[in-house]
Amino acid sequence: MHCIKKITDDLTWVGANDRRLAMFEGVYSVPGGVSYNSYLLDDEKTVLFDTVDKAVHNRFLENLAAALQGKKLDYLVVQHMEPDHSIVICDLMAKYPKMKLVCNEKTMELMKQFYSIETDSRVCLVNEGDTLDTGKHTLHFVMAPMVHWPEVMVTYDSTDKILFSADAFGCFGALNGALFADEVDFARDYMDEARRYYTNIVGKYGTQVESLLDKASALDIETVCPLHGFVWRKNISTLISKYALWSSYAPEENGVMIAYASVYGNTENAAELLACKLRDKGIRTVMYDVSVTPASDIVSEAFKWSHMVFASTTYNAGIFVTMEALISDLAAHNIQNRTVAIIENGSWAPTSGALIREKLEECRNMNILDSKVSISSSLKTAQLEDINAMAEAIAATFPGLPSPVKLEEAAPPPDSIDPMAMFKFSYGLFVLTARDGDKDNGCIINTAIQMTEKPLRISIAVNKANFTCEMIQKTGEFNVSILDESAPFSIFQTFGFQSGRDADKFDGYRFNARAANGIRYLPENTGGVISGKVKDSYDYGTHILFIADVTQAFILSEVPSLTYRYYFDHVKPKPQAQKEKKEGFVCRICGHVYEGETLPDDYICPLCKHGADDFEKL
Ligand code: FEO
Repeated sequence: MHCIKKITDDLTWVGANDRRLAMFEGVYSVPGGVSYNSYLLDDEKTVLFDTVDKAVHNRFLENLAAALQGKKLDYLVVQHMEPDHSIVICDLMAKYPKMKLVCNEKTMELMKQFYSIETDSRVCLVNEGDTLDTGKHTLHFVMAPMVHWPEVMVTYDSTDKILFSADAFGCFGALNGALFADEVDFARDYMDEARRYYTNIVGKYGTQVESLLDKASALDIETVCPLHGFVWRKNISTLISKYALWSSYAPEENGVMIAYASVYGNTENAAELLACKLRDKGIRTVMYDVSVTPASDIVSEAFKWSHMVFASTTYNAGIFVTMEALISDLAAHNIQNRTVAIIENGSWAPTSGALIREKLEECRNMNILDSKVSISSSLKTAQLEDINAMAEAIAATFPGLPSPVKLEEAAPPPDSIDPMAMFKFSYGLFVLTARDGDKDNGCIINTAIQMTEKPLRISIAVNKANFTCEMIQKTGEFNVSILDESAPFSIFQTFGFQSGRDADKFDGYRFNARAANGIRYLPENTGGVISGKVKDSYDYGTHILFIADVTQAFILSEVPSLTYRYYFDHVKPKPQAQKEKKEGFVCRICGHVYEGETLPDDYICPLCKHGADDFEKL
């Protein structure tokens, strides 16, 4: 029986899930399964975006037939030729003899390589910026070479503002009834799998991903349809901001990932002691036994954390086998911009430390600490000094880590008031909205708290200069939209950086959601909404403190609430030095990047062996 899901009136998901696959691409464990997404656009012309893996191809054909409802299939857009999305092409060509293939030149080349089929008479070749009108919809084709293969392109439906993103924005994990990312707790349950998918599938190609992000930033996107994982129709910035981070190889978190290979537990012991010392200094640590944890998980963690420690025994006069594989894997995925420390063990000729260093020195911008621990069989008491020294050396690279203070030194002068101490409060951030007649308005506040449970009351403090404050004083009612961590900076620009006296802050806002009190709230980027009816108010000079009865309260998302700290660390743009513009040339065939001001005329791409003519300036 077919199993399909509607995305919009015209677009249907016709993909399928595989929960039996043990290893995706033969290397990546997928304990939660994987989805193969395919989408049917039902317009005057019918258009299918990609197909599925052979494991689920029967279900897919049923789905497609059901979604077509007896219509013929006019176009198959082939965005990616990897067989988990293309293997059904031959079946579809036979089943729908009038169907045209929409693809680029590189796709055609790969199609012939994989399937030995004659496609020329059935192909509509497209290039960057070409469009296809299907009736109501216009499709725009955008090339995305090496996100993940050289032929990859994505498609933008400008009518419904949908980006068909191929491998970009994908995720491991079967879709268990939910199709949209907002139907699940993505941050809690899927973000790690999205990172693992990104880092292992396209982690090597950060430059090419950045180029796609640049192109996507020029598009007005309301929905993202990837080839694996959930469809995004809300809070798209959550994943886009992660991609911006991952593609630049910037760590997400400050902390140390310790990966160790230990045959008899002695190397593990040293790694564990180091972890304890680091924790004592307030540094977060995670630990992985590389013989137990799959490499794809550790690669993903390496992209997450700012520091890495590798602890390995020496084996056959080299690095222990699983550690050697991990280090090669990390280098192959282009890991860079990390601080690293190395622990080695060797009972008669320790070599693993020097060999690990050698391999990591080939990666970009690695700060490999000189501090080293070399164990002969097992750690001796005297070597605790080396462990301490390594912990000190690592701690010295964490800016802002408080140096340990003795209690008597910590006692402050009795009359001291350090205004910075106020920032130790864990504030949330909220959009406070009010309505006066036809006028809707809102502002940003950071002081909303529950005061009592029975009766259920909250308090808010609002700056008197805010127009919203004036409106609440007049009407006695308001809503508090509790922002969550998906909130983009634009919300703060809209509601915080202009006055409702001069501007309509809701102008262009795509939702007109109102609570029972008739006042607007933000249905997106919001964890919950509280409506208040003012009971008392107190004038405290610059601010009015309102005490209000709660008249309505509801939850909108499970994304963690936004704190002031999170806003400064992750939402507010940091003043940046001009982004380093890489000088170089990218191979149009395979995406290899040559760095340098000029490309030698006789340059041959080391990957695909095409010549300088096939390179273009970055
Ligand atoms: Fe499932 Fe590169 O594709």
